[in-house]
Amino acid sequence: MGLSAAELQAALPYALQRVDLPNLGPKREGKVREIYEYEDSLILISTDRISAFDRVLGVIPFKGQVLNQLSAWWFEQTRDIVPNHLIAVPDPNVMVVRRANPLPVEVIVRGYITGVTRTSLWTLYAQGERRPYGIPLPDGLQKNDPLPYPILTPTTKAPSGAHDEILTREEILNRGLVSKDLWERIEAIALALFQRGQERAREAGLILVDTKYEFGLIDGELVLIDELHTPDSSRFWLAETYARGREPESYDKEFVRAWFAARGYRGDGAPPTMPEELIVAAAARYIAAYERLTGQPFVPGEQPAVTRIARHLERFKEEFLMPVSRRNK
Ligand SMILES: Nc1ncnc2c1ncn2[C@@H]1O[C@H](COP(=O)(O)OP(=O)(O)OP(=O)(O)O)[C@@H](O)[C@H]1O
Ligand SMILES: [Mg+2]
Repeated sequence: MGLSAAELQAALPYALQRVDLPNLGPKREGKVREIYEYEDSLILISTDRISAFDRVLGVIPFKGQVLNQLSAWWFEQTRDIVPNHLIAVPDPNVMVVRRANPLPVEVIVRGYITGVTRTSLWTLYAQGERRPYGIPLPDGLQKNDPLPYPILTPTTKAPSGAHDEILTREEILNRGLVSKDLWERIEAIALALFQRGQERAREAGLILVDTKYEFGLIDGELVLIDELHTPDSSRFWLAETYARGREPESYDKEFVRAWFAARGYRGDGAPPTMPEELIVAAAARYIAAYERLTGQPFVPGEQPAVTRIARHLERFKEEFLMPVSRRNK
């Protein structure tokens, strides 16, 4: 299973930077995904862009496909917990979803105390904070220790370019970001999703360390949106490398984030250029995470991806998105 280093090396020139499909109307560009609106749906195209420190740092071949197909897989696995936005996967890099009104809160669940960024639990704890996100923590925790139980550490969903800010439950309710009833449901759903994710990860020899969920409302109904339990939205550790006092191998963005951090880059100014070895190693980890979690071999989509995506979306539009009145002619 997986792809060889030589295959990944050969794929470097094809890594998916951007996708422009003017036929689909105006495009909104996220850090990682290209977004087109179509009536009540969104077409989410996952590129191979990698972001960290709230910046795009380069491209990793097949990352977009891994993210898209892994999210789709998890959405199917968790339908019994909460409805989600997924409608169809017309291409390995594309998801058609129901458009929601996103709630202004990012719901982060953490099973371990770790991280190197400003809002990370370990960063705050190491600075002496014992009530990060309003949650009391005991003295004596070490980096990467499990928490007594998984905790929610919500942040604001900052507009493009801005940094997310830490929230507590009280602030969410007092600021009226989400109503009390809805927030209580979100907390319960987020913890249930996290438990499901941790169970599956354990079977796959991984540890789901922490993750981020986004929710939205569609016709007043609470729906899980965005991506789910991917190496972009989550930290995964290789279980066999986890031990107190050492850094576990990570199967997520932390791997790339650490390389930049080691060069003193924290998101300001032009990022250093990733060497090919780092890119290939990161691609291999993304693919390995996909294969371990889904138990399915990763089958790379035909390259170059842009023409393939355009073709698949044309076909999808013909078959599914055309107005019903014109369909049977
Ligand atoms: N069903 C949905 N309805 C509305 N918005 C959605 C839905 N699913 C995902 N989104 C939004 O689409 C965007 C996905 O793009 P991407 O992940 O590349 O952006 P980002 O880098 O996370 O954030 P930003 O948009 O601030 O750059 C996110 O802003 C996400 O909130
Ligand atoms: Mg995102």
